[in-house]
Amino acid sequence: MPKPNLVACYSMTGNTRRIADEVTIALQADGEDIREPHPRRGLAGVLRALFDALTRREPPIESIRRDPSDYDLLVLSGPVWAGRLASPVRSYARQRAAKARRIAFMCTEGGRGEAQAFAELSSLCRRTPEATLVITAEQIKNANYHEAVQRFASSLLPAKPS
Ligand SMILES: Cc1cc2nc3c(=O)[nH]c(=O)nc-3n(C[C@H](O)[C@H](O)[C@H](O)COP(=O)(O)O)c2cc1C
Repeated sequence: MPKPNLVACYSMTGNTRRIADEVTIALQADGEDIREPHPRRGLAGVLRALFDALTRREPPIESIRRDPSDYDLLVLSGPVWAGRLASPVRSYARQRAAKARRIAFMCTEGGRGEAQAFAELSSLCRRTPEATLVITAEQIKNANYHEAVQRFASSLLPAKPS
């Protein structure tokens, strides 16, 4: 019997982590932090992030604790970089996401690029997600995302018997 839900998240500056934590609670999910051996900090980290995004690099990530194939649903989440998928999410998706039974995507961004990021994720996971959620940095600043998170989570949970 698979466990219900897993939320895997990469976050460089905390925005995606904030939303992923709320999604994790709403789905009563387990969490997987996608971490790098050398975290990106400061200007050098931003430049490395841009380079990796533009070259579609797949950087090393630390070992993954939870196997998506043990779960019914995987929510894969990360920020948009240079109109593309954040590179550590690409590495995770390549290594593990195709094993998931059901899949959904969440990203945070300044305001553009989610379509290309989600298209690449779909291709890496070899399927279309059941649901997607995009939250902008502005929404996070104004704490204007709770309803969107609840809608996203409800669309993924089994319907309650009436
Ligand atoms: C290197 C880099 C590139 C970015 N490129 C984009 C972009 O192309 N489009 C966009 O809307 N936001 C872009 N952003 C903004 C981030 O997607 C946004 O701030 C996000 O919420 C950061 O998530 P995090 O705090 O989880 O790392 C970029 C940020 C960084 C650091």
